[in-house]
Amino acid sequence: MSNVAVETNRTDLTDRQQREVAYYDQYSTNHEVQKVDFAPAVSEQLRPWSPYWSLVRLVRDEYRDNSQKLLEFGCGMGVTSAVFAKVGFQVTGIDISEGNCRVARKLVAQYGLEDRCSFQVMPGEMLEFEDNTFDVVTGVDILHHVDVAAVLEQLQRVLKPGGMAIFKEPLGDTILERIRELKPLMKLVPRDCSQDDHVHITEDERKLSREEINLIRSTFTVEKERRFSVLQRFYRLLPRRWWNLVWKLQRADYEMMSRCKAYENLGDIGIFVGRKAA
Ligand SMILES: C[S@@+](CC[C@H](N)C(=O)[O-])C[C@H]1O[C@@H](n2cnc3c(N)ncnc32)[C@H](O)[C@@H]1O
Repeated sequence: MSNVAVETNRTDLTDRQQREVAYYDQYSTNHEVQKVDFAPAVSEQLRPWSPYWSLVRLVRDEYRDNSQKLLEFGCGMGVTSAVFAKVGFQVTGIDISEGNCRVARKLVAQYGLEDRCSFQVMPGEMLEFEDNTFDVVTGVDILHHVDVAAVLEQLQRVLKPGGMAIFKEPLGDTILERIRELKPLMKLVPRDCSQDDHVHITEDERKLSREEINLIRSTFTVEKERRFSVLQRFYRLLPRRWWNLVWKLQRADYEMMSRCKAYENLGDIGIFVGRKAA
Protein backbone atom coordinates (compact mmCIF):
# COMPACT_ATOMS: atom_id res chain seq x y z
CA MET A 1 0.00 0.00 0.00
CA SER A 2 1.13 3.53 -0.65
CA ASN A 3 2.50 5.27 2.39
CA VAL A 4 2.80 8.66 0.72
CA ALA A 5 1.78 11.45 3.08
CA VAL A 6 -1.11 13.52 1.79
CA GLU A 7 -0.28 16.97 3.11
CA THR A 8 -3.28 18.92 4.27
CA ASN A 9 -3.33 22.60 3.44
CA ARG A 10 -2.86 23.83 7.00
CA THR A 11 -4.61 27.13 6.27
CA ASP A 12 -7.86 25.13 5.87
CA LEU A 13 -7.74 24.03 9.48
CA THR A 14 -9.87 25.54 12.22
CA ASP A 15 -8.18 27.06 15.29
CA ARG A 16 -9.08 23.95 17.27
CA GLN A 17 -7.59 21.66 14.64
CA GLN A 18 -4.42 23.73 14.54
CA ARG A 19 -4.06 23.48 18.31
CA GLU A 20 -4.43 19.68 18.06
CA VAL A 21 -1.77 19.55 15.33
CA ALA A 22 0.66 21.65 17.38
CA TYR A 23 0.04 19.53 20.49
CA TYR A 24 0.43 16.12 18.81
CA ASP A 25 3.34 17.08 16.56
CA GLN A 26 5.17 17.99 19.75
CA TYR A 27 3.89 15.00 21.77
CA SER A 28 4.89 12.47 19.10
CA THR A 29 8.42 13.86 19.14
CA ASN A 30 8.78 13.43 22.90
CA HIS A 31 6.81 10.21 23.42
CA GLU A 32 7.45 8.11 20.31
CA VAL A 33 5.78 4.69 20.61
CA GLN A 34 8.31 1.89 20.05
CA LYS A 35 6.32 -1.28 20.67
CA VAL A 36 2.95 -2.81 19.84
CA ASP A 37 1.21 -5.34 22.08
CA PHE A 38 -0.65 -7.65 19.67
CA ALA A 39 -2.14 -9.78 22.47
CA PRO A 40 -5.63 -8.19 22.33
CA ALA A 41 -5.92 -9.52 18.76
CA VAL A 42 -3.95 -12.77 18.85
CA SER A 43 -4.22 -14.14 22.39
CA GLU A 44 -6.47 -17.12 23.14
CA GLN A 45 -7.48 -15.27 26.27
CA LEU A 46 -10.53 -13.02 26.47
CA ARG A 47 -10.61 -9.94 28.67
CA PRO A 48 -14.20 -8.69 28.48
CA TRP A 49 -13.51 -6.31 31.36
CA SER A 50 -11.03 -4.30 29.28
CA PRO A 51 -12.57 -1.69 26.95
CA TYR A 52 -9.61 -1.87 24.54
CA TRP A 53 -9.51 -5.67 24.36
CA SER A 54 -13.28 -5.70 23.86
CA LEU A 55 -13.06 -3.27 20.94
CA VAL A 56 -10.25 -5.24 19.28
CA ARG A 57 -12.19 -8.53 19.64
CA LEU A 58 -15.36 -7.03 18.17
CA VAL A 59 -13.39 -5.81 15.14
CA ARG A 60 -11.59 -9.15 14.83
CA ASP A 61 -14.97 -10.93 14.79
CA GLU A 62 -15.84 -8.79 11.75
CA TYR A 63 -12.82 -10.07 9.79
CA ARG A 64 -13.61 -12.38 6.84
CA ASP A 65 -10.73 -12.02 4.34
CA ASN A 66 -7.73 -9.86 3.58
CA SER A 67 -9.53 -7.75 0.99
CA GLN A 68 -11.50 -5.97 3.74
CA LYS A 69 -10.65 -2.31 4.20
CA LEU A 70 -10.57 -0.70 7.61
CA LEU A 71 -10.29 3.02 8.38
CA GLU A 72 -8.87 4.06 11.73
CA PHE A 73 -9.54 7.77 12.10
CA GLY A 74 -7.40 9.68 14.58
CA CYS A 75 -4.93 6.78 14.46
CA GLY A 76 -2.30 8.56 16.57
CA MET A 77 1.04 6.74 16.43
CA GLY A 78 -0.44 3.71 14.71
CA VAL A 79 -0.62 1.12 17.50
CA THR A 80 -4.22 0.04 16.87
CA SER A 81 -3.75 0.23 13.10
CA ALA A 82 -0.85 -2.21 13.46
CA VAL A 83 -3.05 -4.54 15.53
CA PHE A 84 -5.78 -4.57 12.86
CA ALA A 85 -3.23 -5.07 10.07
CA LYS A 86 -1.98 -8.11 11.99
CA VAL A 87 -5.57 -9.44 12.01
CA GLY A 88 -5.47 -9.16 8.20
CA PHE A 89 -7.34 -5.97 7.30
CA GLN A 90 -6.03 -3.48 4.76
CA VAL A 91 -5.70 -0.54 7.12
CA THR A 92 -5.85 3.16 6.33
CA GLY A 93 -4.97 5.37 9.29
CA ILE A 94 -5.70 9.06 9.15
CA ASP A 95 -4.59 11.65 11.66
CA ILE A 96 -4.38 15.42 11.69
CA SER A 97 -0.81 15.30 13.04
CA GLU A 98 2.01 14.64 10.58
CA GLY A 99 4.23 13.81 13.57
CA ASN A 100 1.90 10.99 14.62
CA CYS A 101 1.70 9.64 11.05
CA ARG A 102 5.50 9.68 10.77
CA VAL A 103 5.82 7.55 13.93
CA ALA A 104 3.00 5.27 12.74
CA ARG A 105 4.75 4.54 9.42
CA LYS A 106 7.98 3.70 11.24
CA LEU A 107 6.15 1.52 13.77
CA VAL A 108 4.34 -0.69 11.24
CA ALA A 109 7.53 -1.07 9.17
CA GLN A 110 9.26 -2.42 12.28
CA TYR A 111 6.75 -5.33 12.27
CA GLY A 112 6.75 -5.85 8.49
CA LEU A 113 3.15 -4.62 8.26
CA GLU A 114 3.80 -1.67 5.95
CA ASP A 115 2.19 -3.45 2.97
CA ARG A 116 -1.09 -3.65 4.87
CA CYS A 117 -1.11 -0.09 6.26
CA SER A 118 -1.15 3.41 4.86
CA PHE A 119 -1.15 6.58 6.94
CA GLN A 120 -2.42 9.87 5.64
CA VAL A 121 -2.51 13.30 7.22
CA MET A 122 -6.02 14.74 7.10
CA PRO A 123 -8.72 15.99 9.44
CA GLY A 124 -11.58 13.60 10.19
CA GLU A 125 -14.01 16.40 9.31
CA MET A 126 -12.80 16.39 5.66
CA LEU A 127 -12.08 12.82 4.59
CA GLU A 128 -10.56 12.54 1.13
CA PHE A 129 -12.05 9.13 0.28
CA GLU A 130 -14.80 8.03 -2.09
CA ASP A 131 -18.24 7.20 -0.72
CA ASN A 132 -18.72 3.54 0.40
CA THR A 133 -14.98 2.72 0.57
CA PHE A 134 -14.50 0.92 3.91
CA ASP A 135 -15.86 -2.29 5.44
CA VAL A 136 -15.08 -1.06 8.95
CA VAL A 137 -14.52 2.43 10.40
CA THR A 138 -13.13 2.71 13.90
CA GLY A 139 -11.83 5.28 16.35
CA VAL A 140 -10.18 4.95 19.74
CA ASP A 141 -10.34 7.95 22.07
CA ILE A 142 -10.76 10.38 19.23
CA LEU A 143 -14.37 11.54 18.74
CA HIS A 144 -14.01 13.69 21.84
CA HIS A 145 -11.23 15.65 20.07
CA VAL A 146 -13.26 16.63 17.01
CA ASP A 147 -16.40 18.23 15.64
CA VAL A 148 -18.48 15.10 16.31
CA ALA A 149 -21.36 15.86 13.91
CA ALA A 150 -19.03 16.62 10.97
CA VAL A 151 -16.86 13.56 11.58
CA LEU A 152 -19.80 11.16 11.95
CA GLU A 153 -21.26 12.45 8.70
CA GLN A 154 -17.94 11.76 6.94
CA LEU A 155 -17.57 8.30 8.48
CA GLN A 156 -21.09 7.38 7.49
CA ARG A 157 -20.34 8.52 3.93
CA VAL A 158 -17.14 6.50 3.48
CA LEU A 159 -18.49 3.33 5.16
CA LYS A 160 -19.95 0.68 2.83
CA PRO A 161 -23.64 -0.19 3.28
CA GLY A 162 -23.81 -2.90 5.96
CA GLY A 163 -20.33 -1.92 7.18
CA MET A 164 -19.41 -1.69 10.85
CA ALA A 165 -18.63 1.49 12.80
CA ILE A 166 -17.04 1.00 16.21
CA PHE A 167 -15.83 3.56 18.73
CA LYS A 168 -14.32 3.63 22.18
CA GLU A 169 -14.69 6.98 23.91
CA PRO A 170 -14.67 8.69 27.30
CA LEU A 171 -18.21 9.69 28.26
CA GLY A 172 -19.23 12.81 30.13
CA ASP A 173 -22.92 12.09 30.66
CA THR A 174 -22.82 10.43 34.08
CA ILE A 175 -23.75 11.78 37.49
CA LEU A 176 -20.19 11.06 38.68
CA GLU A 177 -18.92 13.27 35.89
CA ARG A 178 -21.14 16.14 36.98
CA ILE A 179 -19.77 15.83 40.50
CA ARG A 180 -16.24 15.61 39.09
CA GLU A 181 -16.76 18.90 37.23
CA LEU A 182 -17.55 20.79 40.46
CA LYS A 183 -15.09 23.64 40.90
CA PRO A 184 -13.70 22.72 44.36
CA LEU A 185 -13.05 19.14 43.20
CA MET A 186 -11.37 20.35 39.99
CA LYS A 187 -9.12 22.58 42.09
CA LEU A 188 -8.24 19.75 44.43
CA VAL A 189 -7.72 17.12 41.70
CA PRO A 190 -7.12 18.84 38.33
CA ARG A 191 -8.12 17.10 35.09
CA ASP A 192 -4.60 15.99 34.23
CA CYS A 193 -3.76 14.86 37.78
CA SER A 194 -2.09 11.46 37.46
CA GLN A 195 0.98 9.42 38.38
CA ASP A 196 1.23 8.45 34.68
CA ASP A 197 3.80 10.48 32.67
CA HIS A 198 1.95 9.57 29.48
CA VAL A 199 -1.38 11.10 30.45
CA HIS A 200 -2.03 13.92 28.04
CA ILE A 201 -5.07 16.13 27.76
CA THR A 202 -5.38 18.74 25.05
CA GLU A 203 -6.91 22.14 25.63
CA ASP A 204 -10.08 21.38 23.64
CA GLU A 205 -10.86 17.75 24.34
CA ARG A 206 -14.03 17.03 26.33
CA LYS A 207 -15.64 13.72 27.26
CA LEU A 208 -18.64 13.12 24.99
CA SER A 209 -21.84 14.88 26.04
CA ARG A 210 -25.26 13.23 26.05
CA GLU A 211 -26.07 15.06 22.79
CA GLU A 212 -22.89 13.78 21.11
CA ILE A 213 -23.62 10.22 22.26
CA ASN A 214 -27.10 10.54 20.78
CA LEU A 215 -25.53 11.65 17.48
CA ILE A 216 -23.67 8.32 17.30
CA ARG A 217 -26.95 6.52 17.96
CA SER A 218 -28.79 8.44 15.24
CA THR A 219 -26.02 8.18 12.59
CA PHE A 220 -25.62 4.39 12.74
CA THR A 221 -27.90 1.52 13.64
CA VAL A 222 -26.39 0.78 17.02
CA GLU A 223 -26.13 -2.97 17.68
CA LYS A 224 -24.21 -2.87 20.91
CA GLU A 225 -23.34 -0.35 23.61
CA ARG A 226 -21.30 -1.14 26.66
CA ARG A 227 -19.85 0.93 29.45
CA PHE A 228 -16.74 0.39 31.54
CA SER A 229 -14.81 2.17 34.26
CA VAL A 230 -16.30 3.19 37.57
CA LEU A 231 -13.60 2.03 39.98
CA GLN A 232 -11.10 1.77 37.12
CA ARG A 233 -10.96 5.54 36.72
CA PHE A 234 -9.12 5.95 40.03
CA TYR A 235 -6.07 3.81 39.22
CA ARG A 236 -4.05 6.70 37.82
CA LEU A 237 -4.13 8.37 41.20
CA LEU A 238 -2.55 5.33 42.85
CA PRO A 239 1.20 4.96 43.30
CA ARG A 240 2.84 3.17 40.38
CA ARG A 241 3.64 0.05 42.38
CA TRP A 242 -0.11 -0.64 42.61
CA TRP A 243 -0.84 -0.24 38.92
CA ASN A 244 -1.15 -3.98 38.38
CA LEU A 245 -4.36 -3.51 40.36
CA VAL A 246 -5.98 -1.91 37.32
CA TRP A 247 -7.05 -5.36 36.08
CA LYS A 248 -8.66 -6.03 39.43
CA LEU A 249 -10.55 -2.76 39.31
CA GLN A 250 -11.68 -3.47 35.74
CA ARG A 251 -12.81 -6.95 36.70
CA ALA A 252 -14.68 -5.68 39.74
CA ASP A 253 -16.45 -3.14 37.49
CA TYR A 254 -17.26 -5.87 34.97
CA GLU A 255 -18.75 -8.15 37.63
CA MET A 256 -20.84 -5.33 39.06
CA MET A 257 -21.98 -4.16 35.62
CA SER A 258 -23.06 -7.67 34.63
CA ARG A 259 -25.37 -7.66 37.65
CA CYS A 260 -26.58 -4.08 37.85
CA LYS A 261 -27.52 -1.78 34.96
CA ALA A 262 -27.56 1.28 37.26
CA TYR A 263 -23.90 0.61 38.08
CA GLU A 264 -23.03 0.26 34.37
CA ASN A 265 -24.64 3.65 33.75
CA LEU A 266 -21.96 5.22 35.98
CA GLY A 267 -19.21 4.05 33.61
CA ASP A 268 -17.26 6.81 31.87
CA ILE A 269 -15.79 4.75 29.01
CA GLY A 270 -18.13 3.53 26.29
CA ILE A 271 -17.99 1.22 23.31
CA PHE A 272 -20.49 1.77 20.51
CA VAL A 273 -20.94 -0.75 17.70
CA GLY A 274 -23.14 0.36 14.82
CA ARG A 275 -23.85 -0.37 11.15
CA LYS A 276 -24.67 1.64 8.09
CA ALA A 277 -28.02 0.56 6.70
CA ALA A 278 -27.53 -1.98 3.86
C1 LIG B 1 -6.10 10.78 22.35
S1 LIG B 1 -5.29 10.67 20.79
C2 LIG B 1 -5.82 9.05 20.29
C3 LIG B 1 -4.89 8.45 19.30
C4 LIG B 1 -5.11 6.98 18.98
N1 LIG B 1 -6.45 6.72 18.51
C5 LIG B 1 -4.79 6.14 20.19
O1 LIG B 1 -5.70 5.52 20.75
O2 LIG B 1 -3.61 6.10 20.58
C6 LIG B 1 -6.24 11.75 19.76
C7 LIG B 1 -5.76 11.80 18.32
O3 LIG B 1 -6.66 12.57 17.55
C8 LIG B 1 -5.94 13.27 16.55
N2 LIG B 1 -6.82 14.37 16.10
C9 LIG B 1 -7.23 15.45 16.77
N3 LIG B 1 -8.09 16.17 16.06
C10 LIG B 1 -8.26 15.52 14.89
C11 LIG B 1 -9.04 15.75 13.72
N4 LIG B 1 -9.83 16.81 13.63
N5 LIG B 1 -8.97 14.87 12.71
C12 LIG B 1 -8.16 13.77 12.79
N6 LIG B 1 -7.40 13.51 13.86
C13 LIG B 1 -7.44 14.36 14.91
C14 LIG B 1 -4.69 13.69 17.28
O4 LIG B 1 -3.64 14.04 16.41
C15 LIG B 1 -4.40 12.43 18.11
O5 LIG B 1 -3.62 11.53 17.38
